Amino acid sequence: MFHFPVRVSLRESGKILPGDENAKREGPRRLSKPILVLTEHFTADVEGRIARDFTPRRVPSDAPLRREELLRAAEGADALFIGPADKLDAAFFGRLPASVKVIATFSVGYDHIDLRAAEARKIAIANTPGVLTDATADLAMLLLLGASRRAYEAQQWLRTGAWAKASSARLLGWQPTGKVLGIFGMGRIGQAVARRARAFGMKIHYSNRNPLSPELAGDAVFHPSPLDLLRAAEFLSLHAPHTPETHHFLNADTIALLPAGAIVINAARGGLVEDEALIAALKTGRLAAAGLDVFEGEPNIHPAYMGLPNAFLLPHIGSATLETNTAMGMLALDNIEAVLAGKPAPSLLKL
Ligand code: DGY
Repeated sequence: MFHFPVRVSLRESGKILPGDENAKREGPRRLSKPILVLTEHFTADVEGRIARDFTPRRVPSDAPLRREELLRAAEGADALFIGPADKLDAAFFGRLPASVKVIATFSVGYDHIDLRAAEARKIAIANTPGVLTDATADLAMLLLLGASRRAYEAQQWLRTGAWAKASSARLLGWQPTGKVLGIFGMGRIGQAVARRARAFGMKIHYSNRNPLSPELAGDAVFHPSPLDLLRAAEFLSLHAPHTPETHHFLNADTIALLPAGAIVINAARGGLVEDEALIAALKTGRLAAAGLDVFEGEPNIHPAYMGLPNAFLLPHIGSATLETNTAMGMLALDNIEAVLAGKPAPSLLKL
């Protein structure tokens, strides 16, 4: 358990005492640095800015009662900087101290935050759109290639010495060239995946709330019905947000629409997929393979995935590059500083 003093010491806060020499030189009394509660650790550049511009309070990300610790740390704080593992629901906002004016999440996804409850408390919420598009699209291609070329089995084969005993025919994968890639959710990341997949000779089909403009769509085929997209998708890549409407979009019924031997990629959110259905289809070979970076209930993922050789699994590292994490952290801090200064913030979420 961690106890945080409601008021930080003057030394900790950077507040200047009346009569202090600096204060005399600088004229009007300088305000203390805002108190920022953090549940994650960030790249060196981001940490440097936090140390310079804020009074940080850390909630260890592995704290057993992280939510309670977060609420305790928020007492008297100005802002929170959280991640997707922090579930900020209506009950959380009901208990959040009135001192907190803004919350930034270290993610573009915000399905872990009840925006309506935040709005009711007049707390600004910011995410990190745009800056992680390339990293996440790259990762989707890694999943697509890793799944289709059986990279997990190949790694095992090499590391266990099975290579010496078997023929390479054991590891025949499936070629993306000329195949249809169905993209469910054609926002920034979906479009970036399409650009990459075209370079691999794939044909792009997509489903989205609205069709793209002809300039953005290029040769991509729009399916107004996601069900028709599934019927065409030899490879399927999920890039839609997780909402009540998209929850378990991929389930036994929708998997049945995919061509036999299709390959499924998910770098968006675990809640888009019903695990039991996907696992069953991977076990029978109805689906050839899956590449997954996100899981419902992560990091506690469905245990059956572990035993599936045709599941290429990664631990939610879509945005995890040094450059991208730095850009995400800086954007989050830009938002926090702007809100606290009463200025327009670059990426606040609206209902
Ligand atoms: C995002 O930004 O939403 C990524 O999934 C990282 O959490």
